[in-house]
This record gives sequence, structure tokens and C-alpha cells, in this order.
Amino acid sequence: MDVIEAIKTRRSIERFKPEPPPRELIEKILEAGTWAPNHHLTEPWRFFVLTGRARERLGEVMAQALAEELPDPDSQESRAKIDAEKQRPLRAPVIIAVAASPKQDPNIVELEEVVATSAAIQNMLLAAHALGLGAKLRTGKAAYRKKVKEFFGLSDREYLLGFIYLGYPDVKPQKGFRTPFQEKTVWLEY
Ligand SMILES: Cc1cc2nc3c(=O)[nH]c(=O)nc-3n(C[C@H](O)[C@H](O)[C@H](O)COP(=O)(O)O)c2cc1C
Repeated sequence: MDVIEAIKTRRSIERFKPEPPPRELIEKILEAGTWAPNHHLTEPWRFFVLTGRARERLGEVMAQALAEELPDPDSQESRAKIDAEKQRPLRAPVIIAVAASPKQDPNIVELEEVVATSAAIQNMLLAAHALGLGAKLRTGKAAYRKKVKEFFGLSDREYLLGFIYLGYPDVKPQKGFRTPFQEKTVWLEY
């Protein structure tokens, strides 16, 4: 698939068939992530691939993390929210959690490490699309909760940038819309 076509036709996919894609395809997607540009070649991205029961364990941790924040976790309303949170990672057969681990070095600008890892995420979304898979990046509040970060062994100085939900699409993508670039662009000429 031509890269411009891949960029323009990629859409977030919400629903997936239950069977996980073969490991070789997941590895191709991970490899695409590693070819993102990054200043000083620090390669700040970290990937965590969850399949099968690992998704259930993540769901349990996400649910616990949410429960700790709710003022009345035993109420019926809270219990419904906690249960919904627990189910979230089961929405796709594969999840790739992506973290940025900024290099501790006075010459390294932390923001650039996040930018580079964001580029890795976009590479992965495009690679998934070009390989015929569906994907959606999700953060929710879970990505920012300490307990969830700890599940992946991430420290306070690292960022969990999101979860790529991945699988064979079970739904036609929604039609995309973007503001024309002209409305977002200023040409500077001298
Ligand atoms: C940093 C980031 C976080 C996102 N988090 C969520 C999320 O938590 N839930 C969700 O439904 N979509 C999430 N999305 C996906 C966007 O909703 C989606 O990209 C947007 O609607 C545009 O649709 P498209 O990807 O099909 O072009 C996230 C996207 C980005 C870049």
C-alpha cells in the first residue's frame, strides 16, 4: 500500500474478530515502531504485548486503580463502572501498550522522547492498516494511573502513552473527516 494512501485510509477500528493475528504480523508492527525518527537515537519506546489472560490481568489492575479513586466504590453505580473498566482490555485479542522511557541525560529534551514515541505509535498504526489489521489507540484515564503504570514496571519518570488495540476488523470503519490543511497552515515567504 502506498504510504499516502495508508495515511489517508487508516481509521480507528473499534471491534475485532476474536482470533489473534499471527505473531509474525505483530512483530512486523513492532519493528515498524522502532523505525520512528528520534533525536540522539535514544530509542525511548517500550512495548508491552498483551494477549490471552494478560489482558484479563490488565483489566483487573485497571479496575482496582479506578476503584481507589471512587469516593464510594461499593455503590451500585461504582460497581458497574469498575466492572466496565475490567472488561475494557478484552475488546481486542491483542493490545500493545506503548511507553516512553526518556533517557536520563542533560542533553536529552524529555518532550522529544515523547514525540519520538508518538511517531513510533503512528508507524505502528499505519503498519497494522497496511497489513490488513485494524487498530485503535486508546488512553482513557487508565494510562495515567500509577497502579496501571506499575503493572508494566514503569516508573514515575516514564510515560504510558497509550494502548494500541489490535486485531482483525469486525466492523467497517467510520468515515473520516479532517479540516483542510489550508486552515491549519501559514506559509512564510520572504
Ligand atoms: C493520544 C490519543 C489518545 C486516544 N485515546 C482514545 C481513547 O481513550 N478512546 C477512544 O475512543 N479513542 C481514543 N483515541 C482515538 C481517537 O478517538 C481517534 O484517533 C479519532 O477519533 C480520529 O479517528 P481516526 O483514528 O479514525 O482517524 C486516541 C487518540 C490519540 C492520538
